[in-house]
Amino acid sequence: TKKIILDCDPGHDDAIAMLLAYGNPDIDLLAVTTVAGNQTLEKVTRNARAIAEMANIRGIPFAAGSARPLVREVEVAPDIHGDSGLDGPELPTPTLALDERHGVNLIIDTIMSHPPKTVTLVPTGALTNIALAARLEPRIVERVKEVVLMGGGYHVGNWSPVAEFNIKIDPEAAHIVFNEKWPLTMVGLDLTNQALATPDVVAKIAEIDTKCSKFVVELLDFFGKMYKQAQGFDAPPVHDPCAVAYVIDPSVMTTQKVPVDIELTGTLTLGMTVADFRHPAPADCHTQVAVKLDRDKFWQMVIDALKNIG
Ligand code: BDR
Ligand code: CA
Repeated sequence: TKKIILDCDPGHDDAIAMLLAYGNPDIDLLAVTTVAGNQTLEKVTRNARAIAEMANIRGIPFAAGSARPLVREVEVAPDIHGDSGLDGPELPTPTLALDERHGVNLIIDTIMSHPPKTVTLVPTGALTNIALAARLEPRIVERVKEVVLMGGGYHVGNWSPVAEFNIKIDPEAAHIVFNEKWPLTMVGLDLTNQALATPDVVAKIAEIDTKCSKFVVELLDFFGKMYKQAQGFDAPPVHDPCAVAYVIDPSVMTTQKVPVDIELTGTLTLGMTVADFRHPAPADCHTQVAVKLDRDKFWQMVIDALKNIG
């Protein structure tokens, strides 16, 4: 099995990422940490616990992480995720007790207490917690197996013409994370815009006919309406579970090795994930970007995970 830490800001697609990770038998979900992003830290942490309640997730530590980006002001996305950060379904009152540690400490403790190269970090929100963890305990950089994150694009954007939300809201954190020498896979918009929850997909999820599948259908319903309104999508791109899917089975997408760096000073390009395709990637290139999704395989993984949760 593949051990992962999910660092997220639920978030409709973060919720589905969590359910995919929890419901897939090849994933050992070691910890869930939260970070301000789609909504405030308070809201996304409550949402994470509400998802745990709905899916009856127990025995996995959940901890709240950073309440704001490293340098910039908090920026949330109610136009996509609503006022709660997870609008649509009725959210159960969470009973899961939060781990008392700060999310950054939970990340560090989890990595350092497992053998080297066994834990994969899966960030699906701003990279604030991951950047802080790398600064507070630099040994995690050598110790993790890899970082597989949802964020960025080469060179498409959704929060600016060329920048994606997770990177744009905390570009300094992204700069730290992309420049540490751990193997890093960027599952960006180029890939996740192929993971559209089209009506046939939503119908298949509805057919599962469980509490969990109903919850996901309601999430997708709201998410779809918002994406239509805000960005003109006919079906919503379900970004975050793509990163989890890559960890489960890398053959679900093609990737390309390419150096990637983060723009920190451009007036029009702040938070752009600048990928250098001019030459073949150098031998020591530690970053790769996701290119092409096997859509059927991806949605089948999501459906199977929801069935497993029951
Ligand atoms: C990313 O931003 C958030 O709104 C989503 O949860 C996803 O992680 C897409 O740009
Ligand atoms: Ca997210």
